[in-house]
Amino acid sequence: MPVIFGKAPGKIILFGEHAVVYGQPAIAIPVLNVTATARVTPILGTEAGKVHIQAHDIQLDTLLSDLPEDHPLAAAIRATLQEITPNHTPAFTIQLDSKIPIAAGMGSGAAVTVAIIRALSAFLGRPLPNERISELAFEIEKLHHGTPSGIDNTVVTFQKPVYFQRGEPLQTLTLTQPTYWVIADTGEKTPTWETVADVRALHDESPETCDTIFAEIGQITQEARLALSQGDLDRLGSLMNRNQALLQDLQVSSPRLEKLITAAHEAGAVGAKLSGGGRGGNMIALVPREKVSQVENHLLEEGAVRILTTILRETAE
Ligand code: PMV
Repeated sequence: MPVIFGKAPGKIILFGEHAVVYGQPAIAIPVLNVTATARVTPILGTEAGKVHIQAHDIQLDTLLSDLPEDHPLAAAIRATLQEITPNHTPAFTIQLDSKIPIAAGMGSGAAVTVAIIRALSAFLGRPLPNERISELAFEIEKLHHGTPSGIDNTVVTFQKPVYFQRGEPLQTLTLTQPTYWVIADTGEKTPTWETVADVRALHDESPETCDTIFAEIGQITQEARLALSQGDLDRLGSLMNRNQALLQDLQVSSPRLEKLITAAHEAGAVGAKLSGGGRGGNMIALVPREKVSQVENHLLEEGAVRILTTILRETAE
């Protein structure tokens, strides 16, 4: 059996985080500059069933049998084995490598899971279709996030910009001109499950207020889809700013996010907001092409620990 690779990109949410957990639409795009890779190699001359996992990024070097059931990497491997060869596990090593920042709203957990399922299903002789990879990855996302919406596994599996709504068929986006998105990391790390749980607590406390906020975020996301299809940067920028104000109302922003958002505006971004779970992680700014370096530099001056700029190119629906 040859060595088999599986890859998946990072992702970033442009509009609709948190509200998407409550059934509103969200827009997310793949970030192709950063990827997770899984590499599967057979172990020859060993008893069947020996599965060796190496993930140097997180200092993990272990046997599958030594990991608990709910460990996300183990769960992804076990789910794939169960799906394809429930009665026989060959001996193999799976090496994981990810350049996607962890706990930064870039879908690193989902991308590693998708890379594992993709590589392992191919190694076992039955590469799974994207629909099934995404479904399996969604089950694993529940171990990372508690109550995920499904947006991360969808975007990183299909590697396309998506307009996502829970329970609805996948819709891709039409984009008529390239747009430039500067992503800046605050360096603060708050796990997504924590902010999702806090928003849930807020919703339990004041359901009507939160439902009104979610509905408005949903409206913004619908308008953003149209603005993206028309290449209307000014409209997109003001929708981002309004979305950010509503995320502040949901108490998922943070002083560092606010500082970077202000910096992006000062340097010429047309809109900026946090992206993902919030209370740290990344902010994202929509920037006219000629101002990209200016915005990147100013974000670094104001304390961003990493900058990634991604270009969203024209697509057909
Ligand atoms: O922090 P991220 O980018 O992995 O995504 C979180 C997005 C939420 O809407 C807050 C949660 C979800 O599952 O959609």
